[in-house]
Amino acid sequence: MSGNEQNALLELRDVWAGYGAGPVLHGVSLTVRAGEVVGLLGRNGMGKSTTLKGVLGLARVHGGSIRFRGEELTRKAPYEIPRLGIGYVPQGRRVFPELTVLENLWLGLSAGGRGARPEQGPGRRRLDEVLARFPALAARLKQKAGTLSGGEQQMLAIARALLMGPRLLLLDEPTEGLMPQLVARTERLLLELKDQGLGLLMAEQRLETALRLCDRLYVLEKGRIVWAGDRRDAHPEALRRALGLGA
Ligand SMILES: Nc1ncnc2c1ncn2[C@@H]1O[C@H](COP(=O)(O)OP(=O)(O)OP(=O)(O)O)[C@@H](O)[C@H]1O
Ligand SMILES: [Mg+2]
Repeated sequence: MSGNEQNALLELRDVWAGYGAGPVLHGVSLTVRAGEVVGLLGRNGMGKSTTLKGVLGLARVHGGSIRFRGEELTRKAPYEIPRLGIGYVPQGRRVFPELTVLENLWLGLSAGGRGARPEQGPGRRRLDEVLARFPALAARLKQKAGTLSGGEQQMLAIARALLMGPRLLLLDEPTEGLMPQLVARTERLLLELKDQGLGLLMAEQRLETALRLCDRLYVLEKGRIVWAGDRRDAHPEALRRALGLGA
């Protein structure tokens, strides 16, 4: 094993994936290590969400390999993947609006296959740990999630993903549609998670956010990686052009 692979939490090699008709991803390769934030940049429809869904078994992978801590994911059923230690914060902060905050969190634990209700046993301890980070949620456990503000819903989606204690967190445009103050708060939270040693793979369209948060960046265009590298080596103007933001 090379040093690279030893450190890799997640390793995609030449992944082809889509939804049935032609492929959406044409040979995507990328690596996420523990303790780093990796950004997946690209304009609308370029395959950012599909890449995350491929890892989760929610898009069909036609070819290539996806390894998490050395274990091949492409042959696993979607329900097996979260319990290996992969958390997912879907695009558009999807929470269940008619369920309470606590019920939404409970779904996070059951998705992890831990079984226990959050009020009980080891689930209780984990719930307390996660809620300590999110006082606004702790104060609203019985409130319906649909009545939370957009920022609170995003925090709930992240809290739910953290409940099963993942090593890798996949985040799909986590700051989309949030006001600047909440963007800053979300960014701080993600950096804290990175400092605790989690690996983060984040689909993102905001170049400023990506350049602030990410250690390494991949730019997707029509399902292909067209640029990959360290944030330090990124040329913001070239990235702006790749993202269709004009130079
Ligand atoms: N469930 C689906 N069934 C069929 N095609 C899909 C499905 N989801 C996405 N696609 C197609 O796959 C391509 C890539 O979509 P994807 O959602 O990965 O883009 P994205 O980079 O996440 O874009 P955005 O920034 O708008 O979220 C698009 O052409 C899209 O229409
Ligand atoms: Mg998307």
